[in-house]
Amino acid sequence: MNCIPNDSNHLKAFACEVRTELIMGTTVTSENITGNTFPSIRRVWFITGASSGIGRELVGQALNAGESVVAVARNTTRLGDFDSTGRLLAINADVRDEAAVRQAVEEAVERFGQIDVVANNAGYGVFGAVEEVGDPQARAIFDTNVFGVLNVLRATLPVLRRQRSGHILQGSSIFGQTAVPGLGMLAATKYAVEGLSDALALEVAPLGIHVTLVQPGPTATAFGGNIDTVQTTQTDYDATVRTPQSEAPVSEAGKVAEGIRAAVAGVNPPRRLALGTVSADAMRHALTARLADLDGWADISKKVDA
Ligand SMILES: NC(=O)c1ccc[n+]([C@@H]2O[C@H](COP(=O)([O-])OP(=O)(O)OC[C@H]3O[C@@H](n4cnc5c(N)ncnc54)[C@H](OP(=O)(O)O)[C@@H]3O)[C@@H](O)[C@H]2O)c1
Repeated sequence: MNCIPNDSNHLKAFACEVRTELIMGTTVTSENITGNTFPSIRRVWFITGASSGIGRELVGQALNAGESVVAVARNTTRLGDFDSTGRLLAINADVRDEAAVRQAVEEAVERFGQIDVVANNAGYGVFGAVEEVGDPQARAIFDTNVFGVLNVLRATLPVLRRQRSGHILQGSSIFGQTAVPGLGMLAATKYAVEGLSDALALEVAPLGIHVTLVQPGPTATAFGGNIDTVQTTQTDYDATVRTPQSEAPVSEAGKVAEGIRAAVAGVNPPRRLALGTVSADAMRHALTARLADLDGWADISKKVDA
């Protein structure tokens, strides 16, 4: 079905989306997300990093909404408290293990027949100046935050392409567009995810697949406690990296998950979704600074044309 949603024709676009979903044999229902009523489809979610924080909230909210969830975690015992009534498939897998991820996707399709939303959420951080992060630590964070994301994409995209539908939620961050001292390596992985996702979005749009980069700001989860720290430090970086940071407002993981669900429920989902005022403000600041450089150096930019 050829649906071309646009803002000026919202209702028609929504009707088109619902019709598509009905034709695909899924059930239309409705629910309340962040105080608004959004149309919701009984989707099948494939969520990594499902054992805690934002991922775990997504699992709970999807199940509460009557949707089905494939919850991927390194330790699924932490998902044992969900009353799933058969709609939860918890799978032990490390996103760094491509074979395990492929196996998880096979089990997901075997159980539910389809995957509608892929939440590429698993990730962690490293704290230390860029120079202080050793090669093994730098490679390790890319293994999870970037190559893990790629493992999930390569395993799920054949399913989504076959369906000619789906929504990929790429786990980015406030640090996907801006960076602060001490978190350069985390930002490097999230910038990488942003770059590949911009290309991916254009590649899969004609196939009926949406891509949204999820950019939470500081959120109250286990993330801070799971941050890896550098082995050796240089005092030269103490002033920039190891100074007490001002206390920033912190988002709730449940509300972040609600924001993500709102993007999935929307007819015209965003390419990027900043979650939390801190994240939105940081994005605006970063983009404004980039524009200032672009405009301020426009003469030089043009002078190098052949
Ligand atoms: N919290 C924040 O302030 C914040 C801000 C911006 C973006 N984010 C992003 O949001 C996402 C979720 O983070 P969170 O805040 O919910 O933190 P969290 O509570 O620490 O959850 C991270 C999840 O990722 C999983 N994970 C880590 N490495 C994995 C691997 N190799 N294979 C499979 N699972 C792995 C963890 O599983 P285990 O339990 O097995 O370790 C955990 O379930 C991350 O991508 C993070 O970068 C968080």
